[in-house]
Amino acid sequence: MDYAATGTEALARIDAAADLDAIEQLRIAFLGKQGSISGLLKTLGQMSPEERQSEGPKIHALREAVTVALAARKAGLESAALEVRLAAERIDLTLPAPETPRGTVHPVSQVMDELAEIFADLGFAVATGPEIEDDWHNFTALNMPESHPARAMHDTFYFPDEAAASDGRPGRMLLRTHTSPVQIRTMLANGAPLRIIAPGRVYRSDSDATHTPMFHQVEGLVIDKGIHLGHLKWTLETFLKAFFEREDIVLRLRPSYFPFTEPSVEVDVGFALVNGRRVLGGSGDAPGHGWMELLGSGMVNRKVIEFGGLDPDEWQGFAFGIGVDRLAMLKYGMDDLRAFFDGDQRWLAHYGFSALDVPTLSGGVGTPA
Ligand code: PHE
Repeated sequence: MDYAATGTEALARIDAAADLDAIEQLRIAFLGKQGSISGLLKTLGQMSPEERQSEGPKIHALREAVTVALAARKAGLESAALEVRLAAERIDLTLPAPETPRGTVHPVSQVMDELAEIFADLGFAVATGPEIEDDWHNFTALNMPESHPARAMHDTFYFPDEAAASDGRPGRMLLRTHTSPVQIRTMLANGAPLRIIAPGRVYRSDSDATHTPMFHQVEGLVIDKGIHLGHLKWTLETFLKAFFEREDIVLRLRPSYFPFTEPSVEVDVGFALVNGRRVLGGSGDAPGHGWMELLGSGMVNRKVIEFGGLDPDEWQGFAFGIGVDRLAMLKYGMDDLRAFFDGDQRWLAHYGFSALDVPTLSGGVGTPA
């Protein structure tokens, strides 16, 4: 039998195969169970030993040649297909982003970016601390010793007893209940003077329409010489005017209590009732107006400055803590805090911000997408 002719014809057909399907068809036709070359191999069984000696190597060589040709053609077709795909899927990264699919920046992230931008302009750096915090930083160093009644108000998530503080200090680990421990960490790490904000997640075991077990705060801390309440009030006023983008923001400072500030002031912001909605601006004492509690603040307690490794006779400061989610709700008009953390695509599409809408003081710190 003329195996050479069979081989030449097979190789020609393989060469002419137009696509991967055709290659597979040929593989079955030649090498499959019922394939022609498989058939030739079976004829070896009926041959005389001499015949087999002369024919066997030829049939095996034929099968080898066809196998190699199939693999080569297949590889060629695959890389050609890849080239076509790469050419078709090429994107020009200098073009504007496509409309869809489009993700959005969460309002909480947006507001945190806005806060960082506004406070950067006032000379504040952004500081961070761990969400898994130890009892000392979260409570003791903030003038809340063991058995302090204020601890009970924090609805703390504690870790099991075995977990010891990372730095070897006594005390259990917990999920930080506020961003205030960053005050201590920053004083200990950087000394004074200081001007920082510390935005981040905080946790309390509390949950209803206005409370979620995880929420966001931004802490503010200024430590310097001769700092007084006037600095605090000016800073908050300047910040809130920039944040809400209106000049008629009016604040009311009420005496309050926090273990880590002395004196402590709760800050309310005036609002007007417009069509049943609270719109910030104007004095809360004017007819049709009211006051809304916005944040806690005060002069940093001497003991806290000491826990921060500084001399309170030399350094004074003020601190404040604001709910970031609350700020976002007030500015962008959402009414249910829980929706912030549901991950509902419709909510995110509606309230989210364009990734390209980076807040800047010159361009505006809050233009909805
Ligand atoms: N840490 C306080 C809270 O979570 C807020 C606060 C911060 C008050 C700084 C005063 C100074 O309620």
